[in-house]
Amino acid sequence: MSSAAGAVTDALHELRTRFAGVRDGVPADYIPQLAMADPEAFGLALISMDGHRYSTGEADVPFTMQSVSKPFVYALALCELGLDGVSRWVNAEPSGEAYNAISLEPGTGRPDNAMVNAGAIVTTALIPDTADTPRFDRILDCLSRFAGRQLDVDEAVYASEVATGDRNRALAYLIRSAGPLPVDPVGAVETYFRQCAVRVTTLDLAAMAATLANGGVNPLNGDVVVEEPVAAQVLAVMATCGMYDTSGDWLLRVGLPAKSGVSGGLIAAGPARFGLAAYSPRLDPTGTSVRGRIALGALSERLGLHLM
Ligand code: DON
Repeated sequence: MSSAAGAVTDALHELRTRFAGVRDGVPADYIPQLAMADPEAFGLALISMDGHRYSTGEADVPFTMQSVSKPFVYALALCELGLDGVSRWVNAEPSGEAYNAISLEPGTGRPDNAMVNAGAIVTTALIPDTADTPRFDRILDCLSRFAGRQLDVDEAVYASEVATGDRNRALAYLIRSAGPLPVDPVGAVETYFRQCAVRVTTLDLAAMAATLANGGVNPLNGDVVVEEPVAAQVLAVMATCGMYDTSGDWLLRVGLPAKSGVSGGLIAAGPARFGLAAYSPRLDPTGTSVRGRIALGALSERLGLHLM
C-alpha cells in the first residue's frame, strides 16, 4: 500500500472510531419506515479516480438515497435539456432555507434550486418517458450507472413516503399553480418518492460522488455516465445549494461540493481527486447526518481536502 493510500485508510478508521460514540440526533421519523434504521450504523467510504475503494464500518449496509438522489437526477435532466433548458424551470440559487421550504421565485414560480424538494420535484418531472422506457426506469438506470451496479427500490420506504408525503404533494400543486410544472403533480411526486427510495450502500454513494468528481466517468468501470460539463454543473450546484441552509457554513469549513439525505447518507466530491460518502442515520435539525457532517469535516481538515 502506498503511503497516501495508508493515510486514507488510517484516517477513515480513526475518524470512525473517534465519532462512533456521538449520540446526538435521531433517525428521521416523518417517513415512518426511516425510523427503523439502526441509529448506531456508521459507514465511511472514499473512492479515488483510479478506482481504489477505501471503507470502514457499515459501508455495505443498505439504506435509501433520499435527497442524495437529487444531484444525479439533475444531471440526467441537464443531459436531456441542457443547462438553459433546465434553468427555464428550476433556478440555481441558494435558498438559505430548509429542504422542504416553499421555494418559488416571485414572478416565474421557479424553485430556487434542484437540491430542495420543490426543485427536485420539478427536475424529476423534466425527465421524459421514452417510447420504450418510462421516466422512473430511466432515472433508475442513470443512478445505477453512477454507482456502477444495478440498484433497486426499497418498496417499504417508498410506500411509507407515499402514505405520509402530503407536504411534497402540496409543494407540487403550489408549483403547478405558479406555472412551472410540466406534468401532473401526483405523478411527478410519486416518481420523486421512488427515486428517494432507491437503495444504496455507503460504497455505492462514494462511487456516485467519484463519478461526478471524475468528470462524469465512473472510475470503477470507465462508463461515461454524463459529459464533463454536466458533471461540473452538478458539482457547482452541490457546492452552493447541496447542504440547504447550511451550504455556506459547509463550504467555509469543509470546502467540498456535497449533498445530504434524511436516511443519513452524505456525499462529498473532490474534483479530479475522489468521491467520499458517509452513512449514519442520527440527523441534526437540518436533516443531515450528525456523524457524517463531523466525520467528513474532520477528514477534510486532516487530509487537506478544502478546495479553496
Ligand atoms: O422528500 C423528502 O422529504 C425526502 N424524500 C427527502 C428529503 C431529504 O432527504 C432531505 N435531505 N437531507
